Amino acid sequence: MRTEDVRRDIPLLRDHVYLDAASTTPTPLPVVRAMTEYFEEYNANTGRGAYSLVLRATRKLQEAREKVAGFINASSDEIVFTKNTSEAINIVAGGLRFRKGDSVVVPNIEHHSNFLPWLRLRERGVDVRVVKADEGGVVDPGRIEDAVDETTRLVTVTHISNALGTVQDVEEIGRIAHDVGALYLVDAAQSIGHMEVDVRAIGADFAAFPGHKGTLGPVGTGFLYCSTDVQGELEPLMLGGGTVLDVSEDGYVLEDFPAKFEAGTLNIAGFIGLGASIDYMNRIGIRRIQKHGMKMTEELHATVSSIDGIECYGDPQNIYGILSFNINKMDPHDVAKILDETAGICVRSGHHCAIPAMKHLALHETGGTVRASIHYYNTSEEIQLLGETLEEIAGMG
Ligand SMILES: Cc1ncc(COP(=O)(O)O)c(C=O)c1O
Repeated sequence: MRTEDVRRDIPLLRDHVYLDAASTTPTPLPVVRAMTEYFEEYNANTGRGAYSLVLRATRKLQEAREKVAGFINASSDEIVFTKNTSEAINIVAGGLRFRKGDSVVVPNIEHHSNFLPWLRLRERGVDVRVVKADEGGVVDPGRIEDAVDETTRLVTVTHISNALGTVQDVEEIGRIAHDVGALYLVDAAQSIGHMEVDVRAIGADFAAFPGHKGTLGPVGTGFLYCSTDVQGELEPLMLGGGTVLDVSEDGYVLEDFPAKFEAGTLNIAGFIGLGASIDYMNRIGIRRIQKHGMKMTEELHATVSSIDGIECYGDPQNIYGILSFNINKMDPHDVAKILDETAGICVRSGHHCAIPAMKHLALHETGGTVRASIHYYNTSEEIQLLGETLEEIAGMG
């Protein structure tokens, strides 16, 4: 499938230049149709009952789990469905049996969703070691190596920074974690659907994913990868329907992985949509998406960074899919509002749920940055329009 084909499947692109994939992505019609089919034809609960609608919904949900697993080179019994990336990370941070004196290593440029759940562990006596990224937003594996020791229970890093677009050396950081016997969690919120993500090649024990960003799935979906080798280390945070094999007045026997982590009725339509979005990704081809993504990133950086009065952030040799910048001393929200009102361009502005990253770059006091982020549906013409509109805005300042 070509970019034009995908654009035809996303009606809102007719009226908007959507440059906010890092936040969430518009859902293509085939994905919407898969969800509509569920509502129209087999809207029943999964794993609860024996009638044909239940069986069909259960089979479709399992198919979605297999598609998601295949997409990251995992097996379906290593996937827990969640409502988003944040839930996936919290399942690990809250579910590992940390002891006083354990340490956790986390960079200072993480999204709050991969920062706060770890910071909170200080309340349980865990030594949370925050490692500074460099000026360009790159996490030097050497600094991670300096921070770990025999007390380190877990190391985590975000594959691509949502605030700056910098791509981290996740394989090397994983090796460092495992060398000291620590577990390793990768926040793949900004890489999945934009580049090949192979959890085994990365060496992740855990990886957290959105369904609603790069994979073009619906909002309200995400998933956690948990390697078979470490599933025994994790306790479920929530119990309820679907999580037990047996219950008496005296106790209960938990289900196997992943059922024991999926209490209650799931977002069935959403996950069926997510499965359809993985089919959609495979129809385009992840290599083709990445090739387009690299071209768009280069064009985006070249166009925006050449405008007088604009400062870009993040090591330009090392960014992918995302560009953070400011114009003169303008408030980022004002810039975003003008882009929208004058040219229908949608970009994110502010601190991007990454206040420590903004503080690291001394951008917090001035309101953060403007952030443009691309996907396969974006075109060179759209980047050009962004450049022209930014030039006009810069001229006003
Ligand atoms: C790097 C990163 N991690 C985590 C999240 C949280 O994702 P979600 O909204 O799916 O919980 C985001 C969202 O933008 C992100 O960019």
